[in-house]
Amino acid sequence: MPLAERPRVSRPPQEPAPVLPLRIAPSLLSADFARLAEELADVEAGGADWHHVDVMDGHFVPNLTIGPPVVERIHAAATRPLDVHLMITEPARYAEAFARAGAHVLTFHLELCRDAEAVRAVIRRFREVGVPKVGVALNPDTPVERLSPLLGELELVLVMSVFPGFGGQKFMPEVLPKVAWLRQQGYAGHVEMDGGLNPETLPRCAAAGADVLVAGSAIYGVRERGRRIAELRAAGEAARSQRKV
Ligand code: DX5
Ligand code: ZN
Repeated sequence: MPLAERPRVSRPPQEPAPVLPLRIAPSLLSADFARLAEELADVEAGGADWHHVDVMDGHFVPNLTIGPPVVERIHAAATRPLDVHLMITEPARYAEAFARAGAHVLTFHLELCRDAEAVRAVIRRFREVGVPKVGVALNPDTPVERLSPLLGELELVLVMSVFPGFGGQKFMPEVLPKVAWLRQQGYAGHVEMDGGLNPETLPRCAAAGADVLVAGSAIYGVRERGRRIAELRAAGEAARSQRKV
């Protein structure tokens, strides 16, 4: 996408950022992989906004999941955007395959990049292959300030609230100040949180300023997904309405 057509994601801190609608993104990692199309349809009927798709290569994280052919079939079956979270060591190498497979958001990890120029090289590659929204993810122990020079170039920042690799881990509240920091900088793109979100922890994410909220086991792990999504959304909206920042 040419620079001029890209949504403006950074603004002076004195200008209040417009509030993005809250989005609930069930993580397919906790779905039944033998019944993916049914699982997708079930959470869509229940009000899911995006599908969060975790791609792991067994190198960047100690787990393996799915690659472009499966993402392509998920895209064919889904009617909501795919939010693809790459936990792989060579995101630029596979960017084209995931763009062709239908990723709407494509996110890579900041820890793979030595400096801001290395991050820019991956962003450039993602844009070349036509990725609609480019995201960068941060592990819990990665300082968010590293993104300072890059905020104007990203449509999404993913703040991990567990170390990536597995579903069902415990939420780490110590990462919440990163979300508040991003909003204090005037960052108006998507701020996503992923890991350990449930009806107790999700409101804290929304109150800090996150607008995309991923939940795997908290949604796919229950029988009534629609009821759970509504519960998460209501809790998130209530927390947001009390937000000061
Ligand atoms: C973890 C993945 C998450 C995971 C979240 O590496 O990035 O998306 O599926 O699962 P829960 O919500 O169960 O923590
Ligand atoms: Zn994820």
